Amino acid sequence: MTEYTIDRLGQLGDGVIDSPSGEIFAPFTLPGERIEGVVEKGRILSSKIIEPVANRIKPACKHFKICGGCSMQHASDELLADWKITKTKEALSQVGLTPEFRPIINSGIGSRRRATFAAKRTKKGSMVGFHGRASDIIVEITECPVSDPALLKGIPAFAKFATLGTSRKAVLRINATVSGKGLDVKIDNGKELSPTEISQFAQICSQYKILRLMWNDDVISQSHPPSQPMGAANVVPPSGAFLQATHTGEAALVETVMEIVSPAKRVVDLFAGCGTFALPIASRSAVHAVEGEVNMISALDAGWRAAGGLHDVRAETRDLFRRPLMPDEFKKVDAIVIDPPRAGAASQVAEIAKTNVTRIAFVSCNPSTFARDASVLCNSGYSLDWVQVIDQFLWNPHIELVAKFTKSN
Ligand SMILES: C[S@@+](CC[C@H](N)C(=O)[O-])C[C@H]1O[C@@H](n2cnc3c(N)ncnc32)[C@H](O)[C@@H]1O
Repeated sequence: MTEYTIDRLGQLGDGVIDSPSGEIFAPFTLPGERIEGVVEKGRILSSKIIEPVANRIKPACKHFKICGGCSMQHASDELLADWKITKTKEALSQVGLTPEFRPIINSGIGSRRRATFAAKRTKKGSMVGFHGRASDIIVEITECPVSDPALLKGIPAFAKFATLGTSRKAVLRINATVSGKGLDVKIDNGKELSPTEISQFAQICSQYKILRLMWNDDVISQSHPPSQPMGAANVVPPSGAFLQATHTGEAALVETVMEIVSPAKRVVDLFAGCGTFALPIASRSAVHAVEGEVNMISALDAGWRAAGGLHDVRAETRDLFRRPLMPDEFKKVDAIVIDPPRAGAASQVAEIAKTNVTRIAFVSCNPSTFARDASVLCNSGYSLDWVQVIDQFLWNPHIELVAKFTKSN
């Protein structure tokens, strides 16, 4: 065993030793810590902490290290906040941008409203859990401090679905979302069900408050529409559709985006999903919401129509990578909201850069593609006024942010 001192955290939150022969990764360690371990293929898989730092805390969950989620439970909130802000600042400074940063906003324990479980049959019955770190092994879970307790109430039902609805080797992929008074559940990899089995599954849904169950590609049980509040509207998202990870994070994102776009008469919301931003904004402004998934845009449109009393919302399905909105289409627009997937929005941002829209609220889940897109905007006359990191992923290296860009005409 050799002794090392951890120099920094890597992109995925592992401790990193910058050794003369290159980087050595040591999971579950923190900068400044002295550790002992054996390097195999550039990693120290089980390190012994000889001298911990003050920022090391007791992990909250008994499945820590084995379960693939929450790999940073050993780090204090302060260390994590500082690391996420520093990572974002570093990405921006690589393109020459040094904006002001607002203090981070966190989602706390018990707030995650969506999770993807894995379940399979076993000799004794079945097991439900999460995949282990970088592995196919399912770690059976009995607690998950980051999740909304309502999510975990579905576990006994998921176990029954696995016992009754899988072949011996299949692993169910269970996407569950907390929705109003129950759960909205989408399951893939299940076997084909007979009519009797379908009615048995519907009974399980009613027992465990599963409002809607999609099994493979079919909704096989729905007692109530699993709606989500979005401003004054209620939206029933397509099964398994993207939603922000926590209610508190979503509320902070919406508030920050509204602060940036207000007051605007006309707003374009790009990569609009089911209306997370478009529908709250529609209480004050007319909105053109654009999204690539037709089912999500239909859900947004139906939610807007049912709400009544909101400003106009024009909902358009469009692939914004291939067919971005062109400068002409922004002529009467006062503000843009853009919230692309991890790949960012290179082709759309290139067109926005040619416009004179005065305010942009840019939401991003990837600091490096955000920095690339921010640099294009700033090279075309926009200024990046500030960045707000909103952390919906406690104990996880994932980063979410909102940024304000302005251009004076
Ligand atoms: C990060 S999500 C944001 C959704 C929404 N703004 C929200 O907060 O709920 C990104 C959205 O972009 C959509 N998307 C992905 N690729 C797209 C494309 N090429 N064109 C249009 N929309 C796309 C996804 O379907 C998803 O709804």
